[in-house]
Formats: sequence, structure tokens, C-alpha cells
Amino acid sequence: MTDKEGPVVTLDGPAGSGKSSTAHEVSRRLKFRHLDSGALYRALTLALLQRGIAQQDWPVVSETDLLDLDVDIQPTTDGFIVLVGGHRVDAELRSPEVTAGVSHLAKLPAVRASLLELQRRAGTHGRLVADGRDMGTVVFPHAEVKVFLVADVEERARRRMREQGAIEGDVEELERQVQAIEARDRRDSERELSPLRRAADAHEIDTTRLDFDHQVEEIISLVYRLTTP
Ligand code: DC
Repeated sequence: MTDKEGPVVTLDGPAGSGKSSTAHEVSRRLKFRHLDSGALYRALTLALLQRGIAQQDWPVVSETDLLDLDVDIQPTTDGFIVLVGGHRVDAELRSPEVTAGVSHLAKLPAVRASLLELQRRAGTHGRLVADGRDMGTVVFPHAEVKVFLVADVEERARRRMREQGAIEGDVEELERQVQAIEARDRRDSERELSPLRRAADAHEIDTTRLDFDHQVEEIISLVYRLTTP
């Protein structure tokens, strides 16, 4: 017997593939919870910065030290609140300092180990859409539905520029964004632990020429197809 009330849906993919916004909308329409696993790596980064622990010392921080930072999640009706030391954190997770540090922290073994249980707990009862880099490969290897989103690097750079309000058609800025995204892709895919890769049983969706609604609909129909007897 299982106490699962529904499936776990995983959404992995590189930076700028539209994972988080897609996962949010898919979970809203299915009335599932959304777990943004990147927010947990960001919360640990924030907690270390708040304690004044310098980036060069992060590799020697133990798993016990990380648990002491008290990063936790609390379920809500549609997702999870992220807590650091019992206090809710949200916008500060997207600060430039946190964004600059997080990929260096995310590659450390103690960090990945310390967040594994927390993420799995979020999926205990199913009805979850989890987005990240290793949801389908490491955290939820038995998920009922696995999606891997991809998109051309130029399209991802254009999306990032739109988010940041940059001028469309600024060729130099586009080139800078392409290089930054390619560097991040390399860091995420080439790291030793939990690298970004498509699970063998994941369904790849190329979002380069898909608009947001079609992207969401494609995933929802996949969920119905794979989970309806
Ligand atoms: O998706 P994001 O930009 O919020 O992710 C923040 C960082 O955390 C990014 O460098 C990749 C990393 N990450 C990870 O290694 N594994 C995950 N499951 C989610 C995010």
C-alpha cells in the first residue's frame, strides 16, 4: 500500500528553458503542489551569506553545519514556503549575491546530500510538480512523469533579456547573454554530482518555438496520458 494521492511530475532542464514558470502553471492547473528545488539551493546560499561565511570556506562546511542553518519547507495549498531559521524567505532568494554564489554551492557533495531528504519529503504524498536539474535522475527516479525541457541557446538568451527589460535587437547584449548561459550550462552539465542530464525515461520537449500555453498543455496531456489507466 502506498499513501500517495497522485503522481510526481519532474521537470528538468537548463537555465532559461522556462522550467519554473511552466512548473508553476502546470501545478496550478492540475491542483498539485509546486516544488522549486532551485529555491532550496538559493536558501542555503542565503543562510551562509547571512552568517558571513565566505565562499572560499563553503567546500569545508559539513553536512551537520548545513543542517544547523535550518533551511526547511512548509507545505501550502499550492506549493511550499521556504524557511531559513524559521523565517520565511522569498524575494531575497533572487538577489544578485545569491544568484552569483548558488552554482558554486550546488556542486558540493554535502550540500546535495543535505537537501535530498527535504526534497523527497515534499513528494511523499505525490500530487507534486518538481522542477530543477536532477529531479528525474536523482531526487525522484521513480516519478510517474518526467519531462526534460530544452530550447536553443539564443532563444533562452532572448527570454532572459525580456525578463531583464533589455532592449530587443541589442546584438552585443544578446551575445553576452548567450555566453553567460553557455558557461552556466557547462557548469551544470559537467559537474561530477547530479549533473544536468535527461533521465533515460524522460520526455524531451523543445520549447524554442512553443509558446507558453502550448508548452503547459503539452505537459498536462502527457500527465493524463501516462497516469490515466
Ligand atoms: O533554477 P535556479 O536558477 O533557481 O537554480 C539555482 C542554482 O541551483 C543553479 O545554479 C542550479 C542549481 N540547482 C541544482 O543544482 N539542482 C537543482 N535541482 C536545482 C537547482
